[in-house]
Amino acid sequence: MKQFVVNPLKSAIKTTISVPPDKSISHRAVIIGSIASGKTEIKNFLSSADCLSTLKIMQQLGVEIANFNNYESLTVLGKGLNALSEAKDVLNCGNSGTTMRLLCGLLSAQSFQSVLTGDGSLLARPMGRVIEPLTLMGAKISGREHNTKAPIVILPSVLHGISYELTIPSAQVKSAIMLAGLFAKGETKIIEKEKSRDHTEKMLTAFGATIKQEKNEIVIGSEQKLEAQSLVIPGDISSAAFFLAACSIIPNSEMFIPKVLVNTTRTGFVNALKKMGAKINITNKKEISCEAVADLFITASELSSIEVKGSNIPLLIDEIPILCIVMAQASGKSVIRDAKELRFKESDRISTMAQVLRKLSVEVNELEDGLEINGSSGEPFKVNHDLEWPQHFDHRIAMSIAIAALKANEPIAVPGSEWIPTSFPYFEKLMHQLHMAVV
Ligand code: S3P
Repeated sequence: MKQFVVNPLKSAIKTTISVPPDKSISHRAVIIGSIASGKTEIKNFLSSADCLSTLKIMQQLGVEIANFNNYESLTVLGKGLNALSEAKDVLNCGNSGTTMRLLCGLLSAQSFQSVLTGDGSLLARPMGRVIEPLTLMGAKISGREHNTKAPIVILPSVLHGISYELTIPSAQVKSAIMLAGLFAKGETKIIEKEKSRDHTEKMLTAFGATIKQEKNEIVIGSEQKLEAQSLVIPGDISSAAFFLAACSIIPNSEMFIPKVLVNTTRTGFVNALKKMGAKINITNKKEISCEAVADLFITASELSSIEVKGSNIPLLIDEIPILCIVMAQASGKSVIRDAKELRFKESDRISTMAQVLRKLSVEVNELEDGLEINGSSGEPFKVNHDLEWPQHFDHRIAMSIAIAALKANEPIAVPGSEWIPTSFPYFEKLMHQLHMAVV
C-alpha cells in the first residue's frame, strides 16, 4: 500500500479550503428521509465510508435512494413511518458507531428481524448503552457478551414510551431512543444532564415532528408524521478542526474555511482554540436546513495552555485527538478531564493519543479520564525512534498525526492513514494540493 508521508512545513499556510459535509448530519438525513413521506433531496452529502454504510443499509431495508455526481447529492424516496422491509442479509455498519447505534433504535420498532454487525473496531465498542434503554421500551434486542457488544439481533416488537436519564452524554444513545420513540406507544422522555449534539432533535423538527425541549428534557410523542424535506448539509466542523489546528501551530498562518456548521453543540474546539489564543472570526452566519452555518477565518498567534472538562467535553469530543496536538505546541501544562468516553471511540483515544504524543517526545501523563500535556511553546515535535506508533483503526488519530507532522523535525509516514476516508475522503488529496505531503 502507498504510504502517506507528510513533510514538515517550512512556510506559513495562507489559503482557503472547503471541508467535507458534516458526518453526523449526513447519517441523520438518510435515516430520517427514509422514514418520512415523500421525496427528500439531500445536497452536499458526505460520501465517506461511514455514511455510505448507513445509505446501503437503508437500501437493504427497501428504501429507494438515487445518487448523483458520485453521491454528492441524493434523492431518498421515503417510505413513511411503517413501511421499511426486512433485509435479506446481515446489515454491516462497517466502522460506524453512529450507523449501528441509531439503527438499533429505528430497527427495534419494526415488525421484522434484523442483524447488525461491523468491523473489528465496531465489534469491540460498547453497545449495552443502547440495548439497555431500548429493552426498557420493550425491544427484543440482544448482543454478544451479555448484551454489551455487536453483532446485535433485533426481533419484532411493539415499543412503549419511557422516561430515561442518560448515564453518559451520548448523542448516539439519545438519538437511538428518539428514533424508537417515534414508534412507541405514549411519550418518550429523555433527560440529558450534559448537552450533546442535537442534530436529531433539529432534523426531526424540520421534518415536522413535534418535540418538546425544556431545560435538559426532550419529550417525543407517538403518532408523529414526517414530511420529506430538501436539505443542504453544511461543512463538518470536526473536519475543519484539523486545518484550524494546522494554522494555529504554524506561525503567521491564515486560513478561510467557508460554510462550516457552527451549531453550538459542536463548537467546543473553536472556543478552546480561542481560549488558547488563536484568533478565529466567525462571519456570514446563516440558518440552513435548521442548522447554523458560517464562514471561519483563523489567524495564528501564540498559544497558552488550557484546562477542558465537565460539560465542555461533549461539545468537542471528536476533536480531542487534534486538540492534544495543539496543546502540545502551547506554552504550559494543559489538562483534559471528564473525557472517559474517549476510551470507547474507534480506538481508545486516551491511550492512543498518549502513545502518539510520547512518540513525538511530548511529556504527557495519561489519566483515567483524560490527559495532562506539557506544551513545548512552539518547539517542533521530535520523532522518537525508540518508540512505536500506536496500532489503531481510527481516522481522527491518523489525521492528528498528519497535522503534527507539519511541525515535526522530519517527515512522517502517517500510521493508519487508510482509515482517514471514514470521515474525510479527500484529506490526503488536500494535503498534497497544499504541498504538505510528499508524492
Ligand atoms: C455522534 C456522536 C458522538 C460522536 C460521534 C458522532 C453522532 O458519539 O463521537 O463521532 O453523530 O451522534 P457519542 O454519542 O458516542 O458521544
